[in-house]
Amino acid sequence: MSNLSGKVALVTGGSRGIGQGIALELAKSGASLAISYVAHQDQAEETINRIKEYKVDAIAIKADSSEVSQVEYLVNQVVQHYGGLDILVSNAGIEHFSSLDETRQQDFDRVFAVNTRGQFFVVQQAVKHMKRGGRIVCSSSMSASTPFARHAVYAASKAAVEVLVKNLAIELGPRGITINAIAPGGVGTDMAMENTREYLSSYPGMALEDIINLMIPAGRLGTPQDIAQFVAFLVSDEAEWITGQTMHIDGGVH
Ligand SMILES: NC(=O)c1ccc[n+]([C@@H]2O[C@H](COP(=O)([O-])OP(=O)(O)OC[C@H]3O[C@@H](n4cnc5c(N)ncnc54)[C@H](OP(=O)(O)O)[C@@H]3O)[C@@H](O)[C@H]2O)c1
Repeated sequence: MSNLSGKVALVTGGSRGIGQGIALELAKSGASLAISYVAHQDQAEETINRIKEYKVDAIAIKADSSEVSQVEYLVNQVVQHYGGLDILVSNAGIEHFSSLDETRQQDFDRVFAVNTRGQFFVVQQAVKHMKRGGRIVCSSSMSASTPFARHAVYAASKAAVEVLVKNLAIELGPRGITINAIAPGGVGTDMAMENTREYLSSYPGMALEDIINLMIPAGRLGTPQDIAQFVAFLVSDEAEWITGQTMHIDGGVH
């Protein structure tokens, strides 16, 4: 377990799912936490209570990642509360399925506004306050490299993030800040459960268990903790020489 005592971490979309798992894991390692959410305040408050069980400070801030002004507000609130920021986990994201014919401009723009633009600008705001040793982890997906029916827009919004981290690592390296992306496979969160039928449609006639056995050598879906434990390493001092990479945490999906 990494030692993050004395560090301040912001996890966007930290109220539920993978983000919640990451926030809890970083708290377990001793970091003070800020989480953001956009709609479900009750869920955010419940997560704050769970984080505080690790005897660290925790705040929740409502901020829509798709609005650059709200992203700026979010980071400023964190810095005002804690006096600095050491770790950013840019996790907030939305899923989207639609065919080429069905996709409207507003669908495309909404997905990219949250999943791509929101991640770029939260990085821009966060690094203003980071010292040497700063750590950034962004959210891609196995979908950036594994195609599914009706998934082009979401997949492209995540693939762009992998290119962003590769390029931004060049700017941030001299400042002693690392930036990486994680590309999770299927993790049993609200997002994944709400879209199971869409994923299944790429494999007509097959049951979920058979698809898991076919695609995932590890033989099961992931849990938020599977992702969180790896992120806790990526944001630790020990991961100083890892930057510009996308890490596939997916049970070996092929
Ligand atoms: N689950 C998977 O299988 C999987 C696989 C690969 C990648 N991912 C990626 O991992 C990340 C987390 O996914 P998840 O499955 O944990 O999702 P989730 O269960 O749907 O949780 C999404 C989280 O993001 C927040 N959020 C959504 N839109 C937001 C916005 N516009 N501004 C700020 N916060 C926003 C939600 O806040 P509210 O509670 O307020 O709505 C919630 O905290 C996403 O980027 C997703 O694309 C997931």
